[in-house]
Amino acid sequence: MSASAYPLGLRLAGLRVVVVGGGAVATRRVPALLDAGADVLLVTPEITPALRAHVDAGRLHWASRRFAPDDLDGAWLVQVAIDDPVAAADVSAAAAERRIFCVRADDRHAATAWTPAVTRYGPVTVAVHGGGDPRRAASVRDAIRTLLQQGREPQAPANHPAGGGGRTGRVALVGAGPGDPELITLRGWRLLNEADVVVADRLVPGLLLDELRSGVELVDASKIPYGPSRTQEEINRILVDRALAGALVVRLKGGDPYVFGRGGEELLACAAAGVPVTVVPGVTSSIAAPAAASIPVTHRSVAHEFTVVSGHVAPESPDSLVRWEALAGLRGTLVILMGLKNLPLIASTLLAHGRAAATPAAVIQEATTGGQRIVRSTLGEVAEAVTAAGLRPPAVVVVGDVVEALGAAGLA
Ligand SMILES: C[S@@+](CC[C@H](N)C(=O)[O-])C[C@H]1O[C@@H](n2cnc3c(N)ncnc32)[C@H](O)[C@@H]1O
Repeated sequence: MSASAYPLGLRLAGLRVVVVGGGAVATRRVPALLDAGADVLLVTPEITPALRAHVDAGRLHWASRRFAPDDLDGAWLVQVAIDDPVAAADVSAAAAERRIFCVRADDRHAATAWTPAVTRYGPVTVAVHGGGDPRRAASVRDAIRTLLQQGREPQAPANHPAGGGGRTGRVALVGAGPGDPELITLRGWRLLNEADVVVADRLVPGLLLDELRSGVELVDASKIPYGPSRTQEEINRILVDRALAGALVVRLKGGDPYVFGRGGEELLACAAAGVPVTVVPGVTSSIAAPAAASIPVTHRSVAHEFTVVSGHVAPESPDSLVRWEALAGLRGTLVILMGLKNLPLIASTLLAHGRAAATPAAVIQEATTGGQRIVRSTLGEVAEAVTAAGLRPPAVVVVGDVVEALGAAGLA
């Protein structure tokens, strides 16, 4: 008799799956079952906090007791996630009697079904069986995942228009993160690898662009001429035109697309033209830059709030939408983006409205990149310190006690 496993994709939506056990194995297995839409019954006296969170959210049923054979009545699949071989054999026997496939975490030889090593890449699921050797399966799965992440997925023309052909394309507004190319999200990375056209900002990590597959049209948005509003119009036009021509257009933006990124304007322009848009959030520099300087934007007993504000308009300007005098009255963390040029005015306005001169402050230039520089000071002296150090944009200014919250450990 052949020992090969017969591969299947189970469509479990609405079907009962019983999981016996509530420890680490069950905690790992349950999310994929829920993702498949299964009606999960967990049978176990004890569960982990992660499983309890699923129970509390009403995502699964929990029978808080030991297994009984009639728990399997009406089930399509059972996962045995307990160490006790005698109790596991009882579940196997009850499953066999009812012709239900049984996965055994404790003994794969006694199982009638094996769970593969899995990786997911957008709509693609890769499931690997290693001929009964889970480590071999995991290492083959890891190799395939690496290939997929490097953008070596064979292109599927039916679902993936490479431009033209009368098909409607789409736009993805993707946050590239603060600078380190590894800080883009997995979804952002996947879309970048699938893109026909990439429209990139000045602040996106260069290495991400270096790794684009050949044939991608790269539009450098920072080189588009005209003034700021004409430039945005031109970018909107490029996004819409390319998408209407059938392309998958990735609009790649530094940090998060909706944090001072004009992502909303681009979404509105696409929506007005009937172009579908996906928004992929990014790691924003307003949090990542402080983190790169070991500054947590909140810290227990130190700051219970953080406020992110743009400093690109001077505080006294009639164009300013920021109430700096109100911000001066806050105790928490103030994170200022695009604030280097106006830093002397911003600091003096905060001081004039009551924020203490001794409040710790830090400025982080080119956070998470090889050009990262950090200046630590106080609100009273930070503007001078930045000039003396010759810091330049892009930089994030952080004001608040969190700057010193981690003490020497934070400086390590
Ligand atoms: C137009 S805003 C875009 C912000 C971006 N959408 C985000 O979520 O990070 C540009 C400003 O973000 C900040 N910034 C972006 N990347 C940075 C980095 N790596 N280091 C420090 N500041 C950064 C600077 O204040 C810069 O002037």
